[in-house]
Amino acid sequence: MSDSFEPVIGLLGGSGLYDIDGLEEREWRDVESPWGKPSDQLLFGRLSGVRCVFLPRHGRGHPLTPSDLNYRANIDAMKRAGVTDILSLSAVGSLNGDLEPGKFVIVDQFIDRTFARQKSFFESGCVAHVSVAHPVCPRIGDAVEQAARDIGLNHKRGGTYLTMEGPQFSTKAESELYRAWGCDVIGMTNMPEAKLAREAEICYATVAMVTDFDCWHPDHDAVTVDAVVKVLLANADRAKALVKAVVPMLGQRRGPCPAGCDRALEYALVTAPDK
Ligand code: ADE
Repeated sequence: MSDSFEPVIGLLGGSGLYDIDGLEEREWRDVESPWGKPSDQLLFGRLSGVRCVFLPRHGRGHPLTPSDLNYRANIDAMKRAGVTDILSLSAVGSLNGDLEPGKFVIVDQFIDRTFARQKSFFESGCVAHVSVAHPVCPRIGDAVEQAARDIGLNHKRGGTYLTMEGPQFSTKAESELYRAWGCDVIGMTNMPEAKLAREAEICYATVAMVTDFDCWHPDHDAVTVDAVVKVLLANADRAKALVKAVVPMLGQRRGPCPAGCDRALEYALVTAPDK
């Protein structure tokens, strides 16, 4: 008997991405979670025949701030919907002079500076410590890189994403500090999302879409929503093209994740099962 299976692709859309073009058999459905309410209904459908589940991270109409989001409910709802692979699409500022607005960065590391969010499914009574040393699934990264090349997208493989609490943008001193730490991009949403996906044993990767140079860059003004939104709208069209190209690759029948994302809890539980 083969243990290969048909993946279900979860798409988490950030600012500017509230729907997925070309999705067939589409249906918005409530998914209940014991962790509370996800950001919105989930949109089920198929892209090139591949089962997809889309969740607009901030809700349709963008009513939710990054700190408002129920990250646990969002990831749990995806898990309950059968999602095996999550591609997170997120608007970010750039902390690196080589990553200009319009560029798509296939992030491979994170620094988590958030402090007002529920970060784990494991609480007193059931203790587990998963490894997030390598927080993204390299198999998804490979597929995204291939798809980005195929469609001629301005992209870079690898980069460190600093997650800040927000909702205000950074001070100049903070922005310079994060640059000194070697961070490449900054955003407000990918943590604890990536950590929770690992706890849920879902393969996860981020495409960080640069909208601005944050406030460190001497030749650019401080960040404004107005400037961010202009680039965001152009990025959203490119993101939709990328999704269309990458989903057929990710949707191929596959076996267990070579990086072990889908077995993250194997040696993580500390609490005895009968406690
Ligand atoms: N999202 C888009 N641009 C950003 C920035 N400069 N800082 C934090 N989040 C962002």
